[in-house]
Amino acid sequence: MIIAIDGPAGSGKSTVAKLVAKQLKYRYIDTGAMYRSVAWAAQKKGLDLADETAMAEIAENLHIEFVPSEDGQLVLVDGENATTYLKNETVGKGAATVAAQKSVRETLVARQRQIGEAGNVVMDGRDIGTVVFPKSDKKFFFVADAEERGRRRYEELKAKNPSLDLNIIIKEIRQRDYEDCNRKISPLVKADDALEVDTTRLNIEEVTDHVLKNINNL
Ligand code: C5P
Repeated sequence: MIIAIDGPAGSGKSTVAKLVAKQLKYRYIDTGAMYRSVAWAAQKKGLDLADETAMAEIAENLHIEFVPSEDGQLVLVDGENATTYLKNETVGKGAATVAAQKSVRETLVARQRQIGEAGNVVMDGRDIGTVVFPKSDKKFFFVADAEERGRRRYEELKAKNPSLDLNIIIKEIRQRDYEDCNRKISPLVKADDALEVDTTRLNIEEVTDHVLKNINNL
């Protein structure tokens, strides 16, 4: 069984995918964390993220591991616990840059397929239902107003950075939407057979319930 959850930044997909996986006792794979890992490793080395050859080499050689933990899961990058670093907005922006590159995508998509082949997985991202697993058993496409998605990001990040500006975050969310929806390779788009879920006015429990009910009615 493969469950695909796609959608833009801040639509709630990672939080819900994690909870759905926990309920079903499936593995949860955060594909965004894989693109973030490539960006993070490159930024640490001071490389130019626009250098496609260098990014392809990093993607090819990077060891990314998902390890279940008490509060979800840890991401180990070449053995280092990178979970907190990967949430950083600079890393997120970098991820969108490397995610637009053909060879980076080919490498990571191949790995995602390999992981998914074992079955019983909830995978979230931008292209899971369209490219990675077009034959997923269930596909969801989450959407939410940009203002609400910005507010969620703001709440998530402000504890660590009290000087954050909500309007700047909303602007960044819109910019990310634009990049993800307009890139040439695997742009963010709803699969024809995906169920659209507007999470703007729903809380996490409501969205999780909705998804689980839909899966159980298969
Ligand atoms: O979901 P998250 O914000 O962690 O993803 C970071 C970036 O990685 C996205 O903005 C997108 O550009 C890219 N991404 C992608 N395909 C995926 C997952 C993430 O292109 N399956």
